[in-house]
Amino acid sequence: MLVFTAFFCAMALVCTLIVRCSQKRASESQPATIASDGNHSEFTTPHTMRVLLINGSPHEKGCTYTALSEVAQALNAEGVETEIYHLGSKPMQGCTACGSCRKLKKCVFEDQVNEIIEKAKTMDGFIFGSPVYYSGVNGTMTAFLNRLFYAGSSHFAYKPGAAVVSARRAGTTATLDQLNKYFTISNMPVVSSQYWNMVHGNTPDEVRQDLEGMQIMRTLGRNMAWLLKSIEAGKQAGLTRPEAEQRIGTNFIR
Ligand SMILES: Cc1cc2nc3c(=O)[nH]c(=O)nc-3n(C[C@H](O)[C@H](O)[C@H](O)COP(=O)(O)O)c2cc1C
Repeated sequence: MLVFTAFFCAMALVCTLIVRCSQKRASESQPATIASDGNHSEFTTPHTMRVLLINGSPHEKGCTYTALSEVAQALNAEGVETEIYHLGSKPMQGCTACGSCRKLKKCVFEDQVNEIIEKAKTMDGFIFGSPVYYSGVNGTMTAFLNRLFYAGSSHFAYKPGAAVVSARRAGTTATLDQLNKYFTISNMPVVSSQYWNMVHGNTPDEVRQDLEGMQIMRTLGRNMAWLLKSIEAGKQAGLTRPEAEQRIGTNFIR
């Protein structure tokens, strides 16, 4: 009789736990709502989406910052949180190709690279801004991105990325191409705008006078918000990341 009662109590406990678990799962997977007019601004996500914007310029509040701020404001208006991170003007260590990151899963040099790898784990999207230096990404940002992606690209995969460049006059598309290459080797969807993501000017005030450039930034922010919400809606509908194949590395040695 005692054995029967103990068995009965254990079964009752298991059943209660199963019911509780399924109720919790059902409440966690509440479908996202989109307004009946299809307006994605009405879309609600279970967690607040966050985008990290990195300013690679030595000028904290310069032209690149002015462009990034316009993108950030458009994202905020769509309910997406933003953080603008300034790399600063101190020398940035370049990659020494030591390969330690394969084992450490971070860079062997403890600086902003590892700080951003940590931050990236909690971010939903990324925007990298660089001033144009001799038709390319500036030196600080190049050294930073080489190490960041070599050590931490897995934390960027399947999260949208966008590049923004700021120039007085020329070299913008070459610089954009350079920045986009970090995304396109890392399984990241690339966000675009109505034109290539660039602003022109030598001072923040001149950048604000580039009305087309500022509009490109606002469109970029809205497009990034739309893609973030679309990815989230897909997740809530049960869509999972594509299955990755075992990686093949074929060096050109033949
Ligand atoms: C070393 C150096 C190289 C530059 N090269 C270019 C260039 O190739 N093309 C260009 O249009 N502007 C060039 N500029 C100007 C900057 O790209 C431009 O002023 C930019 O908007 C500055 O952005 P910031 O205020 O965020 O630093 C260069 C500036 C410096 C300091």
